[in-house]
Amino acid sequence: MIPDSTEKTRLYGEAEVRISGLISGEPDAVARMAGVVAVLHGVMPHYFWTGFYRVVGGELVIGPYQGTPGCARISWGRGVCGTAWKSGETQLVEDVHAFPGHIACDARSESEIVVPVRDQSGAVVAVFDVDSGEKAAFDEVDREALERLLEKFSG
Ligand code: SME
Repeated sequence: MIPDSTEKTRLYGEAEVRISGLISGEPDAVARMAGVVAVLHGVMPHYFWTGFYRVVGGELVIGPYQGTPGCARISWGRGVCGTAWKSGETQLVEDVHAFPGHIACDARSESEIVVPVRDQSGAVVAVFDVDSGEKAAFDEVDREALERLLEKFSG
């Protein structure tokens, strides 16, 4: 089920309050990522796979996630996640089957959003990846909310 824009905005607001309560003051980046994933995955009905890939030793390595088993490593520029890392830009993909080089960890994935996470110096240190089982599940409401939430709670 894909919520309409009003409902998405309400749910992101609810998620922000819960994330804040769960991880505020937590200094460990992986613990913060785990809290962000657990809350968003539980609150957002259009999320099917929710997780972080961290930049480790020149590759993306899987971090905290919820959903079916994900690929462990993704190279720079590969798939939607690798493209978000390389470009430094959020990737909104309405149909993953039309995205060149998309990595299908779960064949039920139909659409996806990947948001880069930056550290204080502006370097991309991780990407946040959400897949949906429905086409075109993500839009500018998701992009705006996730970019803001990740700037506040990750990196
Ligand atoms: N869809 C991603 C791969 C990771 S999984 O979806 C968990 C991509 O093409 O980057």
